[in-house]
Amino acid sequence: METELMLRHSITVGISGGSGAVYAVRLLEILPRYYRRVNIVMSNAARQVLAQEVDVVAPAAGAWGLPNATPEEAERVLIWNNQNYNAPFASGSNCPDQMVIVPCSMSTVASIAHGIDQNLMHHAAAVMLKEKKQLILVPRETPLSAIHLRNMLTLAELGVTLVPAMPGFYSGQSTFDDLINFVLQKVLNQLNIDLKLSRKWGEGGG
Ligand SMILES: Cc1cc2nc3c(=O)[nH]c(=O)nc-3n(C[C@H](O)[C@H](O)[C@H](O)COP(=O)(O)O)c2cc1C
Repeated sequence: METELMLRHSITVGISGGSGAVYAVRLLEILPRYYRRVNIVMSNAARQVLAQEVDVVAPAAGAWGLPNATPEEAERVLIWNNQNYNAPFASGSNCPDQMVIVPCSMSTVASIAHGIDQNLMHHAAAVMLKEKKQLILVPRETPLSAIHLRNMLTLAELGVTLVPAMPGFYSGQSTFDDLINFVLQKVLNQLNIDLKLSRKWGEGGG
């Protein structure tokens, strides 16, 4: 656990309506240990999926005390209304160094790839692109159409990191948690967070 002084400034987490709401919830249990502020923006579809897949109802805006958070960590996690363009991270003058959208629907992939600002999440991502900051997407859809692939290529060419929600089975993964952790480990690696959730290839044990 890092001390207050060592915490990073902030990160933006977008949650869109792709399947895999559990990835967002688990990631949000980890990030407040590393960032002073975790700004969350989520779509209406994400709210539906959160309720349907993990039985989680998030507040419309304000602090989000996730079940496994300490009181200090809970205070660091703030939800912003998806139409509130006054959010600090929506400005190039105050955007964070890192933003993750997890899970990332194909609709949100398309909006970001084409610069169509339909909500705060898209706008925040567009700001990360124009400021050349780190944007990580965790897309999920299968099978993928040529439109999906083209949009993801456009984003990859702009420097966006795509971490598809595609768990591997090569390091002894056998439980649901192992598969979630596999994907989250890839996201944490990109964020340069030194936390081990999943065994590396060649570390032994299977
Ligand atoms: C339970 C559920 C699961 C869904 N899973 C996916 C998915 O894996 N990938 C995807 O692109 N869309 C998925 N959708 C559809 C999106 O939610 C829908 O396209 C929505 O318009 C996305 O809007 P957003 O990008 O603003 O969140 C799912 C919807 C529901 C209700």
